[in-house]
Amino acid sequence: MTKPSFYITTPIYYPSDNLHIGHAYCTTIADSIARYRRAAGYDVLFLTGSDEHGQKIQRKAEEKGVTPIQYVDAIVANFKLLWEKLGISNDDFIRTSEKRHEKVVQEIMQKIYDQGDIYKKNYEGLYCVPCESYWLERQLVDGKCPDCGRPVEKMQEESYFFKLSKYQDRLLEYIEQNPDFIQPVSRRNEMINFIKQGLEDLCITRTTFDWGIKVPFDDKHVVYVWFDALLNYFTGAGYGYDEEKFKKFWPADLHLVGKEIVRFHTIIWPIMLMAMGAELPKQVYGHGWLVVEGDKMSKSKGNVIDPLGLIEEFGADAIRYFLLREINLGSDGNFSRDALITRINADLANDLGNLLHRTVSMIDKYHGGKIHKTAVPEALDNELITLAGETVENYKKAMDKMEINAAIKGVWTLISRTNKYIDETAPWLLAKDEAKAARLEAVMYNLAEVLRIVAILISPFVPHTSPKIYTQLGLAVPAHFMLTDAAWGGLPDGTIVQKGEPIYPRIEINEEGVTVTAATKKTAPPAPAAPKVAEQPKQEEKEEISIDDFAKIDLRVATILTAERVPKTDKLMELSVKIGEEERTIVSGIAQHYTEEQLVGRNVIVIANLKAAKLRGIESRGMLLAASDGQGNLVLADAPGIASGSKVK
Ligand code: MSP
Repeated sequence: MTKPSFYITTPIYYPSDNLHIGHAYCTTIADSIARYRRAAGYDVLFLTGSDEHGQKIQRKAEEKGVTPIQYVDAIVANFKLLWEKLGISNDDFIRTSEKRHEKVVQEIMQKIYDQGDIYKKNYEGLYCVPCESYWLERQLVDGKCPDCGRPVEKMQEESYFFKLSKYQDRLLEYIEQNPDFIQPVSRRNEMINFIKQGLEDLCITRTTFDWGIKVPFDDKHVVYVWFDALLNYFTGAGYGYDEEKFKKFWPADLHLVGKEIVRFHTIIWPIMLMAMGAELPKQVYGHGWLVVEGDKMSKSKGNVIDPLGLIEEFGADAIRYFLLREINLGSDGNFSRDALITRINADLANDLGNLLHRTVSMIDKYHGGKIHKTAVPEALDNELITLAGETVENYKKAMDKMEINAAIKGVWTLISRTNKYIDETAPWLLAKDEAKAARLEAVMYNLAEVLRIVAILISPFVPHTSPKIYTQLGLAVPAHFMLTDAAWGGLPDGTIVQKGEPIYPRIEINEEGVTVTAATKKTAPPAPAAPKVAEQPKQEEKEEISIDDFAKIDLRVATILTAERVPKTDKLMELSVKIGEEERTIVSGIAQHYTEEQLVGRNVIVIANLKAAKLRGIESRGMLLAASDGQGNLVLADAPGIASGSKVK
């Protein structure tokens, strides 16, 4: 049986600069939809790329003293690197500077010209170079471009025009008869109103610069960058060089675009297609913008967020998860580091990470790692199994409607329910009772089975995480996670789990504002050999003191006898230390950097004559010296081999 096809595109991005988190947002949405469709059994063509021509790029290259192609080559390499790091699964990457694309543009332009839909006229207009758009005086906002707010320039050219006006009524009729063509509905209404005001013919050639595709019937002109760019969707589908592919994938199922370019995709593009006699795409979806603390990202505001830096810091899946979960696709959404960290800790580390870690640890402990496919159906189990089934069905419905965050929410409801199921079934009590052996096996199976289903469902959103879950469950990672495998009971009897590290360590921010994860804490370097007082990377300006002042500080070597975390705190460790013959208690903020075992027996340096203070009700007498490495780690100053009580001078 042949698979149904699904063709999805992102806008092709301008390589005038590196991409920011807003661009990554758009491509991540498209990627998650493409992955979902593959999992649902479709043969998917997922296209992204770069929109390389136009005056803006030519000017940027001139400023740098390089040719336009040299300029874009370097930036496009960064696009590709970003998509690779973010786990984007595009099947093709179209560059409008490619020969295959030039051929398509020239062929179509010639065809439309020959049939009389393109004509020549002298034109004077107001042009926004960054947006590559002409505007009418009445469309300007405060005399500036209504899209980007930047100044426009008066331009005069002899140009070729495309007869948009001729197709206006046909387009309106099409939009009205095909309610799904423009989504969400708010964008559809906007476009209907726009068209009703009347469409002007579109200037589709330029002579004021030459970085573009030459007009086939007049080589003094280059093709307007939007006319060129929109055709990428044809080139990417194989038009003109792979007829079979084109037949299979055209019309596109979904053009995913930002809200400000819906107009190009639902007016110019469909009219170009009508003029060509081609079918229109099934849907254009205009998503909202990602803003930073409520503000549009821009270089001049200095609030542009580099996605590569974020991926480096938090990992690709955490960023993907945040973007997909936090933001409602049709509306603008806010990006903030605090919200990102909260999501990582709550949803990924606590809910999902803990469920996996607890489950695998218990199977390891109670059954030597072996999963037994035992069913002892009790009401609680039936409820869980029913919820798992409903979650899969609701997830599919939500994904088909592009309600990505609703689909994710549904999966997390199942995860939370399953965490609660652990508390309700109390496996640690079952483990103590021989008579409950089968019940314990059934509970372990149910937990592992939920995780297997969850791994399949979340694979479009966090594609690096699902294989980790499968691996810890002891399952072979498939080439593609398939939704048909998300039916209850698919986990084979006798599977051996592979206990691993928590998949999402908690993120914390230390005093210096540096991100620390539980993983980095675990691997914090051991204390170096006897530094006296290590240097701070950032020197604080402090008042000078005399040698007499220094002499007032009683620095001593102390041996740590016992160490115990202070309950209900993250940072505090209660230590009993020996200074010479004297034993005392010191409470120190190092619990995130050292385990109890790493501390006991260690000779450290303490300020012995510090006034006593009460911390969480415990009297602390003295302070341990430690240095911050600037990466969020504290490293104790210690003195191996020096007798306890020795003075440090
Ligand atoms: N080159 C054109 C598209 C041609 S498609 C035939 C273009 N390029 S762009 O690089 O300026 O923008 C590409 C996409 O990124 C647009 O859909 C735009 O909405 C999106 N975004 C740019 N900034 C964004 C945010 N801050 N948030 C979400 N999307 C954002 O337009």
